[in-house]
Amino acid sequence: MLVLGVETSCDETGLALYDTTKGLLSHALFSQISLHIPYGGVVPELASRNHIEHLIPLLEEVLNKANMSLKDINAIAYTSRPGLIGALLTGACFAKSLAFALNIKAFAVHHLEAHILSAFLADKSLKFPFLALLVSGGHTMLIEAKNLGKYTILGETLDDAVGEAFDKTAKILGFAYPGGPKLASLADLYPNPKDTPLPFKPFPLPMCNKDNYAFSFSGLKTHARVVWEKSQQDETAKRAIAFAFQDAVIKTLVFKCQKALEKTQLTRLVVAGGVGANHQLRKAMHLMLEKFNAKAYFPEIEFCTDNGAMIAYTGAQYLTKNQQDQDLAIRVNARTVGWALAQQ
Ligand code: KG4
Ligand code: ZN
Repeated sequence: MLVLGVETSCDETGLALYDTTKGLLSHALFSQISLHIPYGGVVPELASRNHIEHLIPLLEEVLNKANMSLKDINAIAYTSRPGLIGALLTGACFAKSLAFALNIKAFAVHHLEAHILSAFLADKSLKFPFLALLVSGGHTMLIEAKNLGKYTILGETLDDAVGEAFDKTAKILGFAYPGGPKLASLADLYPNPKDTPLPFKPFPLPMCNKDNYAFSFSGLKTHARVVWEKSQQDETAKRAIAFAFQDAVIKTLVFKCQKALEKTQLTRLVVAGGVGANHQLRKAMHLMLEKFNAKAYFPEIEFCTDNGAMIAYTGAQYLTKNQQDQDLAIRVNARTVGWALAQQ
């Protein structure tokens, strides 16, 4: 069975074809980042209009790459929640109309579930149950993933998401939106702090003195601002702040994951979402998991950020359960609330 995946929740238009026996056949992505850079963040209306322009060319691209035609598609999966409401609507209308025209099933996919399941695309040996750390631009969550559609949220951020904190701290240091990956590259340039001590105290580890799985990153970003304002504001200071910020974020994420692994006794950890592309985070998680005789699973770097492949894959899992949309209504939800629907 061939599933077309359609992702339009934010500023990336992603389409993909996933075959339930052959795996991922093709994927194509258009990133709108350059469109939003002048505004310092995503402009929802511009995002929606731009998705509309790219949906059909990207559909043609994935079909050509896979040497398939429209009539080969058996089902369409689209992101229905959470995300920017107008952006979600473009993908939902496109997917449901195409499904209606082709007389095939359409599946509403939860974007966060798709991020978590993207780890299956990289490693087929992954199995439920597992602990999932979802670290994206909009969400930071620790989740006990029991089975397809069965999730318990152990904790989430009280304020900024990790990716958001990376982007905001990068902006303080003068990087254009989204500065997260640039901040991470700069942090990697800092020499070993054992040989070159930081010119200030290490950054605090937020919420690590609390007996829970909650996160909070907005204070860390403010701390970075204060240290930057007191510094020489040169390249050396930039690099040291980038290092100290990234180091504190990683230590906090590792600490909370370790705590959750101890509680749940799970032996598999999935780290998904845009920040999952961070190399130092990957290294630190592998090191921590060695102590537990546990294993880390990461999506491929290109599938950490938003993409159509994770949507097609998730749709394919529901296809086998036959849980398609029942009617022609186009339902999208800007907020995570729909997540509760997935917690059966
Ligand atoms: O998952 P994603 O595409 O967005 C949401 O669905 O929210 O993640 C994008 C986020 C951005 O905030 C970006 O700065 C961050 O992921 N990001 C990184 C890295 N690559 C992307 N943050 C830290 N280190 C990276 N290497
Ligand atoms: Zn995402």
